[in-house]
Amino acid sequence: MDLFSTPAPDSARKRVEELTRLIDHYNHEYYINDTSLISDYEFDALLRELVDLEKQYPELSLPTSPARRVGGDINKNFRQVTHRFPMLSLGNTYSIAEIEDFESRTRKLLAGTPFTYTCELKYDGVAIGLTYRHGQLVQAVTRGNGSVGDDITSNARTIPTIPLRLQGSFPPDFEARGEVVYPFEAFDQMNRQRETDGEPPFANPRNAASGSLKLQDSAECAKRKLMFCMYFLMLPPDSPCLSDPAYSTHSARLAAARQMGFRVQPYMQECENIQDIKAFIDHWDQARWDLPFGIDGVVIKVNQTSLWDSLGTTAKSPRWAIAYKFKAERVSTPLIDISYQVGRTGVITPVANLQPVWLGGTTVRRATLNNADFIAKMDIREGDSLLVEKGGEIIPKIVGVDLDRRPADAQPIPYVTHCPVCGTPLVRAEGEAGHYCPNQDGCLPQILGHLEHFVSRRAMDIDSLGSERLRMLYDAGLVRNVADLYDLTRQQLIGLGEGSSSSIQEKGAENILHALDQSRAVPFERVLFALGIRYVGEVGAKKLARHFGDIDSLLNATVEQLANVEDVGEVTAVALFDYFNQPVHRQIIERLRAAGLQMQAVDNRVGNQLQGMTIVVSGVFQHFSRDEIKASIEQHGGKAGSSISGKTTYLLAGENMGPEKLKKAEKLGIPIISESDYQKMIEN
Ligand code: IVH
Repeated sequence: MDLFSTPAPDSARKRVEELTRLIDHYNHEYYINDTSLISDYEFDALLRELVDLEKQYPELSLPTSPARRVGGDINKNFRQVTHRFPMLSLGNTYSIAEIEDFESRTRKLLAGTPFTYTCELKYDGVAIGLTYRHGQLVQAVTRGNGSVGDDITSNARTIPTIPLRLQGSFPPDFEARGEVVYPFEAFDQMNRQRETDGEPPFANPRNAASGSLKLQDSAECAKRKLMFCMYFLMLPPDSPCLSDPAYSTHSARLAAARQMGFRVQPYMQECENIQDIKAFIDHWDQARWDLPFGIDGVVIKVNQTSLWDSLGTTAKSPRWAIAYKFKAERVSTPLIDISYQVGRTGVITPVANLQPVWLGGTTVRRATLNNADFIAKMDIREGDSLLVEKGGEIIPKIVGVDLDRRPADAQPIPYVTHCPVCGTPLVRAEGEAGHYCPNQDGCLPQILGHLEHFVSRRAMDIDSLGSERLRMLYDAGLVRNVADLYDLTRQQLIGLGEGSSSSIQEKGAENILHALDQSRAVPFERVLFALGIRYVGEVGAKKLARHFGDIDSLLNATVEQLANVEDVGEVTAVALFDYFNQPVHRQIIERLRAAGLQMQAVDNRVGNQLQGMTIVVSGVFQHFSRDEIKASIEQHGGKAGSSISGKTTYLLAGENMGPEKLKKAEKLGIPIISESDYQKMIEN
């Protein structure tokens, strides 16, 4: 308890209890029973009141409080946890014949014992296990490798379909397993927002769900509108419920879970025989496109849990269940023409414009053709019809040419030779698949791309300038390159974009100028990264900054000197040399220098104790986050390696370190040191 907070008066305690009860009830009605009993506004007011009360009286804040749903816990590294019961996967197949084999094999093995199957949806998301003790959520862990996963409890608490406290009766100790999915509507909304914010969109809802569960700030996860679909209730071997008829079948267990407050999808069906199973599969192969979330197949389980032991498990998966995976849907549609998009780095992407065609729940009009090699390899010609597929991904893929529909004298399609935006002849670097437009400083998408990269969080971190505002500055003729940003004045900014959602008022102008001012302190290595030189990422920029020390040495370096830097290859060295030797770039750098940006590396080394050593870190530490311990190694003259090899000096082991790393270190005879050994080493 916080020493300075006053003890909570009874009235506060009562109000917290009351609010908790009300919010839990409205939440349950809304997310589990799809019933809205009060307005969003009223609901938010209740939640806010609870959050505020718990802030005022921390002793009243329970781990199961609905106030936790708004998140706010920060996860530095996710703690690795060993699953109490391994999270097995299922045998899976795309073939109905194998489902028939599974059914007849199961029937034979169970020789005469009456039993049924359950058929249910195979959710396309991220598997997690939730531990409940005495009706309270105590831990949420991702599947990981099946034996060890990540502790994502504080993020899981923000998912409204994960009950924090259970209702009615429940086993004293059990695990609820299921899949966290990203419903399509919320996924699309989030991806649109990301594009507006200049962040890369997620490829599909599964990746997005997985990324969301690993967010460090649980308040961010709370915004993601994830959904938990429960598909399994796991009882420990000593559970009193094992002899309870209410838990003797898989379907009864899920029905019980529904009563406890879980969202259990209603699409399960009990089946007697292979005909019923096949009918279920056929139905969902079509009907899946009408669901609000993605599925990638159907799971068939023996329903009577007492038979699971006698059927047993193979090394990886139980013999009492199997997954049928849907084949990707495929259609053939005429290619109208190819258009070429210019990316923010100047890379050209050819896109097939297709005769609109209905595929897997949406109309497809366009699909990427990746690059010239892809078109050549597929031998796509004028007048062709293309085969388009959509699997678990919601993004359609071109998988080939429909040769049956090829016109008799179809000619190859010449690839674009000039930039479709600025007309500059395209180039293609040796060994690279993509063509690109070399007019970095005069081609609109590239100019905007550079500006966006420059202000991005890991570069200069000027977050009051998003992509829309940068576009506004460009359109107003105020900014053509990154140096122009530092010439902006209050007068120029105020009133820009009048009428649009990102228009700049007095306060906005101040924020922008303040952020620009703060960026003058950003270390040299990040300034170097922010310049957006081809092939120079964060790590490369750091190494270059450290090696050369300041911008002048870099400006004067030869290709050989540049290639001498660790991890800088020939191609990057040439790109750097070219960049620094173009007068426009020299001019920009001089203007940035004059604006007060850091052009010199600060030696943040505090000692040489680890000179010449390569240390690989693994696991969780008491006094450092993972990034901190790596930084500390470098500050003491060592190198932080990422994988164990013959060159590794020590493996620095924290709690719950990865078993693979340990095995490898033991095999190569690499000494393992602890956090306190490490601290002693750097103190000496
Ligand atoms: S049952 C021991 N049921 O598919 C049985 N799994 O390869 C455990 N999945 O890792 C799994 N929907 O993540 C089951 N209705 C469902 C499922 C389901 C999706 C996932 C699960 C598992 C994988 C199977």
